[in-house]
Amino acid sequence: MSTFTAFAPASLSNLGPGFDSVGVALSRWEDQVTIKLTRKPVYEVHYDAKSAWVGTNDPLKNTASVSAKHVAQAFGYNQGASILICKGLGAGSGLGSSAASAVAGAMAMNSALGNPFTKQELIPSCLAGEAAASGAIHGDNVVPSLMGGIIFLDPDRPSDFIRLNTPRDMHFAVILPELEVFTQQARELLPDQITLREGAVWASRLARLGLAFAKGEIEQIGKLIMQDSIVEPIRAGLIGPYTDIKLAALQAGALGCALSGSGPAMFAVCPSKSSATKVAKAMKKACSGQGVGSIAQSGSVNRDGAYLG
Ligand code: HSE
Repeated sequence: MSTFTAFAPASLSNLGPGFDSVGVALSRWEDQVTIKLTRKPVYEVHYDAKSAWVGTNDPLKNTASVSAKHVAQAFGYNQGASILICKGLGAGSGLGSSAASAVAGAMAMNSALGNPFTKQELIPSCLAGEAAASGAIHGDNVVPSLMGGIIFLDPDRPSDFIRLNTPRDMHFAVILPELEVFTQQARELLPDQITLREGAVWASRLARLGLAFAKGEIEQIGKLIMQDSIVEPIRAGLIGPYTDIKLAALQAGALGCALSGSGPAMFAVCPSKSSATKVAKAMKKACSGQGVGSIAQSGSVNRDGAYLG
C-alpha cells in the first residue's frame, strides 16, 4: 500500500484579547504525519524515532488518528490505517502542537482517500482531533495551521473565519520555556462568566486588534496584544519567568509581548527580522535568569498552512 504524508505548522493563538478567536500560523516548527491505509479495521499509531515528543499510541486519544478517522468516516471508508507521527514540537507548548498533529492527520488521510475534501471541509475533523487533546473544541490553532496566515474566527463556528493579509515588516520572537502547561488544565482555571462591562472592553480591544492587523499597524498590534484583562493575568501565574521575559522583550525593542495560547510559550511582535532575533535572545536570557531553560527563535507568519509531502 502507498503512504501519504502531510505537514502542518505550529501556531500562535489568542494574541491577547482574542481568546479562542485569533490565531496565526508560524513559519517555525511543523508536525509530519504519514498514513498508510490497511485492510484491518483498526488504527495503529506510531512515532518516528526523530519525533521531538512522543504522545499516546491510543488511537481514540491521539489527535492525529482521531482527526484522520473522522475524515475517513465522513468519506465512508471503514477500514483501518497505520499512522506515523513525527512531531516538531512537544505537547503543552502553547504553540498549537496538538492542533498541528490533528491537521496533518486529517490532511494525510484526505490525501490517502484521493482528496475528496477541500481544506475548509476538513475543519470539523481537525477540531475533533484537537478536542481529543484539549478537552474542548477551539479552532484558533487548528484553522491557522490548516489554512495559513492570520485568522479571526467565531469560537462557536470555527469554520466561519476571516483570513487577513500579513502586515509587512511584522516578525515574531517566540520563546518556549522548558515548562509544561496543559491546555485542558489551563482552561479549567478560567471564569465561566464575565461582566457586561468586561465583555465590552474585551470586544473593543479585539475589534481594534482586527483593524490594526487589517491596516498593517504593527505598533498598534503590539500594544493591543498586551491588553487582555481576563485570561492572560490568570495564566501568567503558571509561568514563573513570565514577567521577566515580557520586560526583557520590551526593553530589547519588541512592540508587544504576550502568552501564546495557554502557554508556556510567549511571543513578541517585532518590526524587523533583526529586531526579532535580538528580542528572542533577550527573552531567552531573562528566562534562564529565572533558572528555566528555553528554546527561543525568531519567525514570521506562515501564509500557506498545511501541505502534502
Ligand atoms: N485558545 C486556546 C486556549 C488555545 O487559550 O485555551 C490553547 O493553546
